[in-house]
Amino acid sequence: MYAILCHPGHNRVYFEQSKKFSVNELTIAASRMQADIGGIGLKSVAGISYVMFESGDELAESDLKILGQLSFAFALYKYRDGIFKPVELPPFGFIDPNISRILKYAGKTNEVFTRLMINTAIFSSDFALTGDIRLLDPIAGKGTTLFEGLACGYDVYGIEIGENAVTEAYHFLKKYLEKEKYKHQVKLEKQSGSNKSFTAQRYRFSISKSKEAAKENLFREFELIAGSSVHAASFYKKNHFNMIVGDLPYGVQHGSVTNQKQSSLTRNPKELLTACLPAWKDVLKSNGIIALSWNTFVLSKKELSKLLEDNGFEIFCGDSYNFEHRVDQAINRDIVVARKV
Ligand SMILES: C[S@@+](CC[C@H](N)C(=O)[O-])C[C@H]1O[C@@H](n2cnc3c(N)ncnc32)[C@H](O)[C@@H]1O
Repeated sequence: MYAILCHPGHNRVYFEQSKKFSVNELTIAASRMQADIGGIGLKSVAGISYVMFESGDELAESDLKILGQLSFAFALYKYRDGIFKPVELPPFGFIDPNISRILKYAGKTNEVFTRLMINTAIFSSDFALTGDIRLLDPIAGKGTTLFEGLACGYDVYGIEIGENAVTEAYHFLKKYLEKEKYKHQVKLEKQSGSNKSFTAQRYRFSISKSKEAAKENLFREFELIAGSSVHAASFYKKNHFNMIVGDLPYGVQHGSVTNQKQSSLTRNPKELLTACLPAWKDVLKSNGIIALSWNTFVLSKKELSKLLEDNGFEIFCGDSYNFEHRVDQAINRDIVVARKV
């Protein structure tokens, strides 16, 4: 039997539910592992709760890599008769995963929760074990999803309507890469629609882990566009992304990332989705996955599912896809995961 010790910083706001989410996340990820995984559940040993599972086979390196990417995984042990034997997880992170913890601001999506969303998306997809994954966050804020996705080794792209949020994220990343001595190139580009129907500013980084990796041309892309997601299909080619992951506006005034006067389109998830889903679908590959978190107090799961289905998505159902939890008085959050058919 194996035991995963959960990260001590694992969310305090919805601590009890987060244990169940860990079981869900591992259940979804296990479907992509080589070993035959079973008996996934929570077990308490000496007052500490672990996520435990059985494996028919030895865990392959690729399996350990998947376990090391889980949002809650802190340490892995072989467990038998009350004795824990540590199992080394392969080093994780194209870039130091702590990058997403540094910036703090009102309205930021929790990093552990963001990784959970990314993992439910990637491990629900047929692309899970392929290289060169492209991830889009079409409502990117100051880029938590992009930083987490970059840590996972994906090429990451974001669209955010709040210009200040985008420039802040851009300056933060630039400074970080310089300070940590990552090889990188930066490109700034303006884009406008026909007859000036829209304008957008693109901030693009090509990032390499080291000098040696740069020599071998091993770069990952990080792009953030200051513009409206309604124009996603003007920014990107059709069938470009393997997955779309984002935290929708909560439909409440407080905790805004952008601090700007927001229109109802940017605040109301239903209006936003109605306007953007056709473009998001266009830029997603066939069989690509969309994972969105949202406030169920302003949009019911039934309504959200209908919107997605009407736009050609198929929702993943079942107990492993139930992530509902209370964030505060005004926000009851859930995640929906769907596949483009
Ligand atoms: C809940 S926040 C996302 C926070 C982000 N995950 C983070 O941690 O920084 C939702 C974001 O959607 C953005 N947004 C709303 N409408 C948009 C649109 N039409 N195009 C692009 N971004 C939009 C808002 O400005 C807000 O920053």
